[in-house]
Amino acid sequence: MSAAFVFIAESAHVLHTLAREPLGEPAEHRMRRLRSAGDRDDFSAARRLAKRAAEYAGESGLGVMDLRQRCDSCGGEHGRPVPTAGGWHVSWGHSRGYVVAGVSRSRLGVDIESHAPDVSEIAETVLTPRERVMVDSASDPSHSFLSAWTAKEALVKAGVCTLDDVGQLKVLRTSNALLPHQAGFALSAAVLRGAVAAAATREDAQWFGLDKQGNPRAMLDG
Ligand SMILES: CC(C)(COP(=O)(O)OP(=O)(O)OC[C@H]1O[C@@H](n2cnc3c(N)ncnc32)[C@H](O)[C@@H]1OP(=O)(O)O)[C@@H](O)C(=O)NCCC(=O)NCCS
Repeated sequence: MSAAFVFIAESAHVLHTLAREPLGEPAEHRMRRLRSAGDRDDFSAARRLAKRAAEYAGESGLGVMDLRQRCDSCGGEHGRPVPTAGGWHVSWGHSRGYVVAGVSRSRLGVDIESHAPDVSEIAETVLTPRERVMVDSASDPSHSFLSAWTAKEALVKAGVCTLDDVGQLKVLRTSNALLPHQAGFALSAAVLRGAVAAAATREDAQWFGLDKQGNPRAMLDG
């Protein structure tokens, strides 16, 4: 299968429907240091959802603990997920009760945000001048900002740039829509209740939610 598969869900639903598994010591250690139970739930749910996405893509025998990470900067066991034994690149993100996870044969990035920051405070550093105009004139400026912000974070995770450079990276086509491509990556987005998610993928992304039993449910608008 040559595609990118991206799953979005509420953390509580993932924890309720997808089997609990050991995360492996490096991740367990990091999770124990999170103060909030909600953050620990998101941390665990994102990894279970990533495993589900890899299984959907055809990876068999993968445990959550097999999802390893290696930091691009220090080499530590955090940061960018390492591709699976079956050659699937993996990315995930979490935000206050919501998680997104994707897999692809090529490097990808996914991000989710459930809560809009004060747009006026950070728009100048995060958006291009043209994007600022689009967000300001949007019928829902918070949603418009989150669309841009999640797409930019997805591109950061895909390795296109760092967070310091996203202010120069254009991703909005209109106040309500992303550019179809940026820096060789297809951009796509999905919304789950108040949460906005985006993916930067080499192949076109197929988006999924989870049904009541935790089975993949294709989303009409990725
Ligand atoms: C990538 C980044 C934008 C994500 O930020 P965030 O909004 O706080 O977190 P999200 O929930 O969206 O995503 C977190 C996930 O992104 C992934 N991730 C983290 N750093 C990543 C990177 N450099 N490249 C790709 N993916 C990365 C991990 O899977 C992480 O999951 P985990 O926290 O459960 O381990 C941010 O972590 C960043 O800029 N990192 C680079 C900074 C860095 O390299 N520091 C060096 C420390 S030694």
